Amino acid sequence: MPKQLPITTYGMDILRKKTRPVRKIDNAIIDLVQNMFYTMDKSSGIGLAAPQINLGISLAVIDISALEEHKKESPMILINPVVKDSHGEVTLEEGCLSIPELHGNVSRPDQVFIKYNDFDMNEVEVELKGFMARVAQHEIDHLNGKLFIDYLSSEEKKEIKKQLSEIRKGNVKTDYKLHIHSGDSFLNL
Ligand code: NI
Repeated sequence: MPKQLPITTYGMDILRKKTRPVRKIDNAIIDLVQNMFYTMDKSSGIGLAAPQINLGISLAVIDISALEEHKKESPMILINPVVKDSHGEVTLEEGCLSIPELHGNVSRPDQVFIKYNDFDMNEVEVELKGFMARVAQHEIDHLNGKLFIDYLSSEEKKEIKKQLSEIRKGNVKTDYKLHIHSGDSFLNL
């Protein structure tokens, strides 16, 4: 039975760190991928990166098929993905399971060429367009310690400052399990 894992929340260091590559596919990774798909589904997410379940490895899953207009899109498992090339630009509102309730307009290329390892560790290169390109870039950013809020203007950042500090403290309501930054403890001398 796959497990639902808590989602790391804004304020946790793991979300700001560059991940290390996955070297081989073993049973632990296979279990992990299953748990990630399950967790993403239970959280009504369309993408999930390993740092969001507190793991610093270069692995992300995507499944946008729950959305009516994308129901024919196959799920993707991205291992060690890198954006090789990109074209165009489109602005779209984004959110993130790790930053609940917050949304913001983010401009990104709308066509990307991505290199990654498949489940047999073969190197694969694909061209993604539109919404898949959008989600893949958001997830690859996670693997590099980057969040969608980093793209907002300084004015927009100012506007969400208070909300971010509430999220950091765990003062946020979600219908999925969160893993909250525990804060600095005086006992941790
Ligand atoms: Ni995200």
